[in-house]
Amino acid sequence: MKSMPSSTQPDYICRISELLRPKIGVAGLVLDLFAGCGGLGLGFESAGFHTIGFEMDSDCCATYNANLAGACQQEFLTPQTRFPHADVVIGGPPCQPFSVGGHQLGLKDSRDGFPAFIAAVDQLRPSLFLFENVRGLLYRNRWYLSEVVAQLEQLGYIVEFTVLNAVDFRVPQNRERLIAVGHKGGYQFPKPSHSRVNAGEALGDSALEAPEDAKYLTESMDAYVARYERASQCVNPRDLNLQKPARTLTCRNIAAPTGDMHRIKLSDGRRRRLTLREAARLQSFPDWFEFHGQETSQYYQVGNAVPPMLSYALAQSVKSYLETFAPLDEQEIQSRRQPVQAELLLEQ
Ligand SMILES: C[S@@+](CC[C@H](N)C(=O)[O-])C[C@H]1O[C@@H](n2cnc3c(N)ncnc32)[C@H](O)[C@@H]1O
Repeated sequence: MKSMPSSTQPDYICRISELLRPKIGVAGLVLDLFAGCGGLGLGFESAGFHTIGFEMDSDCCATYNANLAGACQQEFLTPQTRFPHADVVIGGPPCQPFSVGGHQLGLKDSRDGFPAFIAAVDQLRPSLFLFENVRGLLYRNRWYLSEVVAQLEQLGYIVEFTVLNAVDFRVPQNRERLIAVGHKGGYQFPKPSHSRVNAGEALGDSALEAPEDAKYLTESMDAYVARYERASQCVNPRDLNLQKPARTLTCRNIAAPTGDMHRIKLSDGRRRRLTLREAARLQSFPDWFEFHGQETSQYYQVGNAVPPMLSYALAQSVKSYLETFAPLDEQEIQSRRQPVQAELLLEQ
């Protein structure tokens, strides 16, 4: 993918290009499981951690290895996988235990990444671990989150979780994610920033132009979009509003022409799909970050990623924790755990 010359880059992109450069990893060693293209890993590297990635998809590994300082190993993770020592374990384990023909298999579902994640924490006993997942895990599938938290607590951690919106961390997109952190006392989630970045600040004025590689919606797709918006009683048109942060990017709504897809309406009335670089910018990837693989694979890597700017804020919070780390004893850990568990039960 071509990156634009820096003279044509909006200020926001210039700033994140520098901020998100991987630094020499003196803050600690991070094991990045289910690493994808490295969105989560990049935020940790730019905060000064050294990363080692594990990921089963070859395109993702190629992207990770081309852009991050740490190496990503292509491997299908299971509870039996052996890992090198690490100070911190992070990851976005896939969790699909909810729709197996009505059988809620939870941790027994073979496609579920959590057993491998929990086994890695058990094996390495890091100072801290962090996982991210869809926000729905906190609501409809809370039984499953409870199961995961209970297993991780048994390993001697306080497990706290919250929903963070990437838009509060200088990402030009509303994107809520469940973030869970296991620690030994004293960790604090990053504080939201008060200023927000609009889509237009990341895409620049050229967003309303027609780039060479743009793909236009056909008349029948326009008609489909209109029907979709009527049927879903959509109040605001779903075309990108450059004056606001973008709505959530997903693999589906950036990679495929669906009624819900991300698109820009040009002044002549035509609609075009987001280019890959635009989607990457709305996820706060710098322009120097190059994606590998076929086009659909690249869109999936972008759609699956943790926005690096959100990850950078998380990494700073982990760094502060490690710098002041004074583990509590088991009794104190027990007493701090109770409010989280009580809150879980209350909201069920
Ligand atoms: C949500 S994505 C991770 C995104 C990543 N954290 C980022 O910020 O770019 C989940 C990744 O897990 C990978 N994956 C799923 N099951 C796996 C397994 N058993 N072993 C290794 N990787 C797996 C998928 O290929 C996918 O890239």
